[in-house]
Amino acid sequence: MERKINSGKKIAATKSLEFIDPKKIIGLGTGSTVNHLINKIHETFILNGQSITAVSTSTETTDLASSLGINIIDLDQVDEVNVVIDGADEVDPEKNLIKGGGGALLMEKIVASYSKQVIIIVDSSKIVSNLGKFPLPVEVVQFGSERIKASIERFLISLGYQMPKVTFRRSASNKYVTDQQNYILDLHLNEILDPKTLSIGLLQIVGVVEIGLFIDMASKIIIGNDDGSCKVI
Ligand code: A5P
Repeated sequence: MERKINSGKKIAATKSLEFIDPKKIIGLGTGSTVNHLINKIHETFILNGQSITAVSTSTETTDLASSLGINIIDLDQVDEVNVVIDGADEVDPEKNLIKGGGGALLMEKIVASYSKQVIIIVDSSKIVSNLGKFPLPVEVVQFGSERIKASIERFLISLGYQMPKVTFRRSASNKYVTDQQNYILDLHLNEILDPKTLSIGLLQIVGVVEIGLFIDMASKIIIGNDDGSCKVI
């Protein structure tokens, strides 16, 4: 049973190994699909005596990768990341993404923006015709976060979203804190019709650090299926 739940993710993670050049710096995203990739890198490269150097996007990834012999270095120590491989929560037909379900969207977006190639590994359940069923994560500073939340709600209403629900990740009394010491607000929108306008507007609100919409950033999407097949877009 457990094998079936994870197999699409494992298939995509395994396929993405083809895009790793062990002589060049890679970026490692965050989440359960990337955890499969880290295990595969260990089996394929590290156990065969080949070293891999990577930039990480979260403490979760750093801990797992380091424990399996991957050399983690700081983004500031490299001029460029050759390829970052990361998961996603939703992928639309234009390869736009919602990310941040694991709370690492800020570091993921920074690493992606300094990478030559951004490869997204997902199972087929992540493919959607419109983004937005998955709540959109927005990382905000802690100071004034209730005011920032109210500003986001007003902005969403101005765009025509009816009574948008915005919630603090985990709970209002025990807010989730990211690796960069910020909070995450989840925007329950159901459907995002114009990701670009939403993205530009949210990023103009003072106190919003980054948002989980990744527009025009993905170079390739690798979709793994439970039957063992996979597709690269
Ligand atoms: C982490 O913050 C996210 O962007 C993940 O990449 C995303 O949530 C996918 O996670 P899974 O691989 O666990 O589905």
